[in-house]
Formats: sequence, structure tokens, C-alpha cells
Amino acid sequence: MKIIMLGAPGAGKGTQAKKISEKYQIPHISTGDIFRANIKNGTELGKKAKTYMDQGLLVPDELVVDLVVDRVNQDDCANGYVLDGFPRTIPQAEALDAALAKLGQKVDYAINVEVPDENIVNRMSGRRACVDCGATYHIVYAPTKVENICDKCGGTLILRDDDKPETVTKRLGVYHEQTQPLIDYYTKSGTLKEVDGTIDINDVFAAIVKILGE
Ligand code: AP5
Ligand code: ZN
Repeated sequence: MKIIMLGAPGAGKGTQAKKISEKYQIPHISTGDIFRANIKNGTELGKKAKTYMDQGLLVPDELVVDLVVDRVNQDDCANGYVLDGFPRTIPQAEALDAALAKLGQKVDYAINVEVPDENIVNRMSGRRACVDCGATYHIVYAPTKVENICDKCGGTLILRDDDKPETVTKRLGVYHEQTQPLIDYYTKSGTLKEVDGTIDINDVFAAIVKILGE
């Protein structure tokens, strides 16, 4: 099962992708997480990506496409995967389709998690991420057992650099301009599925399971 998560920044793509990955036992591939890990480790890719991410801009396609194509060709992706944060532009979607076509494969589901812009800034300002394992929480909607301590690894929680309100507004603009056209793209290919992302996290997941099957 090859799944793509679509939706605005903060719509809940990562939250749902983790749950899909656990239930269906397929890798969760988040380009945002890959870049953040590279930034943390001080790699050349991380240094390049950071200059764009800090401004709320997309990292150029040429820095993303090969990385994802290599990743989905690894052995653990043989039974499928859930892509979170990729593709984000039409050229990225075309590059993915071309890479899959070479293997006689295609994307099975593009799940669009719909959340209006008004809800997004509120979501992002309450999001906290673990510095050690990257787990994501929300101070109101998905709190940890102990304040500011990761439930999974005991790491410290922080507000992501790009979750400041002014950067979130920029990211939303970039989303509408560069990523939203993918909704048409996947509608045309017959793979688009819409879910309401404004309801409770577990109810969003139940709607996704209905689409993917038990
Ligand atoms: P990335 O990390 O992909 O960020 P994003 O798409 O902006 O998405 P987010 O991670 O912010 O949000 P999400 O939808 O996963 O929401 P989450 O589940 O955390 O990318 C970061 C940057 O990297 C980009 O700006 C770009 O620069 C670069 N980049 C990455 N991929 C790229 C690519 N392919 N091409 C070019 N550049 C790329 O949820 C948000 C919060 O809400 C959490 O606190 C969560 O607990 C809470 N929440 C989730 N669901 C619910 C719910 N139903 N109800 C209440 N609260 C909820
Ligand atoms: Zn952690």
C-alpha cells in the first residue's frame, strides 16, 4: 500500500501517518523529519535545508526528489509506505510517478487531511516536538503525561523553529501556492481521498481506516 498524506502545515499529516505506519506495518517517511535529523547532525544537506525551512519556504525540488526516490526503493518499502510531506510540488509528484512507473507501480491513496487556515496557527503554537525522538504532541489536544517530557523516550519537548506565528503564516501561503495544486493532480489520477482533519485525532484515524480497509 503506497500512501501519500496531503494537507496544510499542521493539518495532522504526521500524527495520522504515524498511526497508519503502526497499524499497517509500513514505514513512515517524513521529508520534514529527514531534514530536521540532518540539521541536528550538522550535515551539508541539513545546512542547505535550514536556510529555506527557517523562512517557511520549500527546500528546492532537486534536494528532495532523489532522497525520496532512494528511500522508497529500499527493501523495507517493498510492501508499501506512507509518505508525509512529499510530494509538495507538481514536479515532485511527477518525479515520484515516473520513478514508480519504472517499477510498474503507482500511488494507491492520496489522503487529503482538510483543516481550514483559521485552525492552523492555533494548532502550531501548541505543538511540541521531542528533541530526541521527534515524537509530536499538542499542549491541549495531545498532551504528554508529564508536562514537557516525551512519553516515549523521556526527552525534552520544544516548539519547532518554524512554528512561530509569522513563519506559520508564510508556510500557509507557500502551501496554497505550491502544494494545493496537488489536490487536482491526484483527483485526476483517481487516487484522492478527503478526510475532515478538524475532528478528534482518533476519529480522523477511524475515517482513514475506513478508506484503507481493516
Ligand atoms: P514538514 O515537517 O513536512 O512540515 P509541514 O508540512 O508544514 O507539516 P507539519 O509537520 O508542520 O504538520 P503536520 O500536518 O504533520 O501536523 P502534525 O501531525 O504535526 O516540513 C517542514 C519544512 O521542511 C517545510 O516548510 C519545508 O521547508 C521543508 N520540506 C519538507 N518536505 C519538503 C518537500 N517535499 N519539498 C520541499 N521542502 C520540504 O499536527 C500539528 C499539531 O496539531 C500537533 O501538535 C498535533 O498534536 C495536533 N493535531 C494533529 N491532529 C489533530 C486533531 N485532529 N485535532 C487536534 N489537534 C491535532
Ligand atoms: Zn521522545
